[in-house]
Amino acid sequence: MSDSAAKASTAQAAIAALLREHRTFPPPDSFRAQANVNDPQVYERAAKDPEAFWAGFASELEWFEPWQKVLEWNPPYAKWFIGGKLNASVNCIDRHLRTARRNKAAIIWEGEPGDERVLTYWDLYREVTKFANVLKQIGVQRGDRVVIYMPLVPEAAIAMLACARIGAAHSVVFGGFSAEALRERVNDCGAKVVVTADGGYRRGNIVQLKRATDEALEHCPTVQQVIVLNRAMDASQVPMVEGRDHWWHTLMEKAPMHCEPEVMDSEDLLFILYTSGSTGKPKGIAHTTGGYLTGVYATTKWIFDLKEEDVYWCTADVGWITGHSYAVYGPLANGATVLMYEGAPDYPDRDRFWALVEKYRVTVFYTAPTAIRAFMKWGTQYPQMHDLSSLRLLGSVGEPINPEAWMWYHVYIGGERCPIVDTWWQTETGHILITPLPGITTTKPGSATFPFPGIEAEVVNEQGEPVPLGGGGYLVIKKPWPGMLRTIWGDPERFVQQYWSRFPGVYFTGDGCKRDEDGYYWLLGRVDDVLNVSGHRISTMEVESALVDHPAVAEAAVIGKTHDIKGQAIAAFVILKEGYHPNKQMEDELKQHVAQKIGPIARPDDILFTAELPKTRSGKIMRRLLRDIAEGRALGDTTTLADPSVVAALRQQYEDSEG
Ligand code: PRX
Repeated sequence: MSDSAAKASTAQAAIAALLREHRTFPPPDSFRAQANVNDPQVYERAAKDPEAFWAGFASELEWFEPWQKVLEWNPPYAKWFIGGKLNASVNCIDRHLRTARRNKAAIIWEGEPGDERVLTYWDLYREVTKFANVLKQIGVQRGDRVVIYMPLVPEAAIAMLACARIGAAHSVVFGGFSAEALRERVNDCGAKVVVTADGGYRRGNIVQLKRATDEALEHCPTVQQVIVLNRAMDASQVPMVEGRDHWWHTLMEKAPMHCEPEVMDSEDLLFILYTSGSTGKPKGIAHTTGGYLTGVYATTKWIFDLKEEDVYWCTADVGWITGHSYAVYGPLANGATVLMYEGAPDYPDRDRFWALVEKYRVTVFYTAPTAIRAFMKWGTQYPQMHDLSSLRLLGSVGEPINPEAWMWYHVYIGGERCPIVDTWWQTETGHILITPLPGITTTKPGSATFPFPGIEAEVVNEQGEPVPLGGGGYLVIKKPWPGMLRTIWGDPERFVQQYWSRFPGVYFTGDGCKRDEDGYYWLLGRVDDVLNVSGHRISTMEVESALVDHPAVAEAAVIGKTHDIKGQAIAAFVILKEGYHPNKQMEDELKQHVAQKIGPIARPDDILFTAELPKTRSGKIMRRLLRDIAEGRALGDTTTLADPSVVAALRQQYEDSEG
């Protein structure tokens, strides 16, 4: 059995469990009646003429010059809204100033320690245009790259929009990433400027962002200037490098308001966002302006059903694609009020999210299954402490949601009245591609249901042939969509090879999927060596490289092990070099080493020292056997192993270590 076939069979077992929940949930009549879209015909209409469908949304945005052609498709290269000129910041801000939204809250922010801020659209305009002028003054020009490495504060969104205003591409690096991960991304995109903060709050501690930035920048020759937000520390205690580092507030004091937006071509780069692939090197996913903005605008409007009076909360950090598309660009392009919360869901207590829902009367709430599973474990008493009656729609993203978590979300958070949209998409897709429409779709717990109108998806077998309903295979997307990635920054060949070579002419998602007899899509997780830990993508190779970088490690193999809350947890099998001893101290040291190399999200849960790894005769590590061992399953086919005794020994050892 091939590795992917073995994965598919494990996934089949998982899906069998999923399908045990038979209840279905049509949209409540009251929801359907008021929904932004409630006519099931939209699917047919969009399928008949997807270009006209997307162009309809694009024309709701503001363009300096209209496009001449909607789509140019030379697989795998797509161009959308050709010849159209626009600016993303104008669409997220200026456009609303000419309406009653001028003094409406754009961002309601709460810091972890409880500090509060509200920025109206007019406030946002002022801050963004001032910061755009700041960037220009320190030498940022159209076409440059700016790295943003910040906590979840309004200034992170302000910096993104300011980049968009002057035509510089931003590359946001999640504040939980290490100095080394930051350095790698800064160098890969050749950033001229880094925008950071002294620190940010996380569970009562201060994450030392400036310190990590200083460490990263020791080897970043392209970076000329650093802007530092004074967020969490006594400014006089923060070492600043003369000539390179500037305080955000000092620069802003002198900066003029108003900044003419750059006239950007629809296909000009808007941002680069790094994500993990199946090699050790993160991929810089490149998104352009017109298509991306149209895609996030349309999907936010229809999937989250935004209305003027909504208070919308997407809990993702702006360091991830969900934060880009559904905490910043999508909702602001819709003129929505966005809630942003800096900190952890369990700080100071496990009811923090529900306290925020009650306090701000949140109406639309979008989070990840891993968070929902943690809430389940903590118990219903926490949501029950608060009035959650303002909620009217719930969303889920980042990994398959198990039906138990779906039902819990439905009952205890949604009060059994809120539709749930389980949204499937990727950093690469830019916006949601498979999802219910809350006023139309009858949902099934655990299924992301159907492709968004205008999206043509398919489940195919190894040969690329469509799998009949009821079967499983690989999820592919057959037609271009506006927000699709245009390339991998600096590596155009990898773009073609990674996404368009497995099945020529169609986009390969890297996800397994099954369609049931009713045609519903059930996502089954990755079919490559990418892990999904708490909704975050982590490459096994990246963790392996971090491990072998430690002087004691000769070889390492990393796998994802099923985990109740995280979805997957990282387990590493490690061979030490001669002269090093496997013990608890070494284990802790290696875990710490990985956290330092990549970031705390990549810290392995388990490390097992071994003398050998199961390999094929051609020397390839058989990860699926390692997964079987780690999950205590019967071992799959071992006939291709060079030395079958290795796995038996490993299994024994794993069982002993688990106690
Ligand atoms: O495996 C799928 C999973 O997350 C991957 C994309 O990760 P990333 O680029 O970090 O973007 C996450 C947020 C969009 C996918 O290949 N995934 C995402 N959403 C779902 C999901 N798996 C199942 N159901 C989902 N709703």
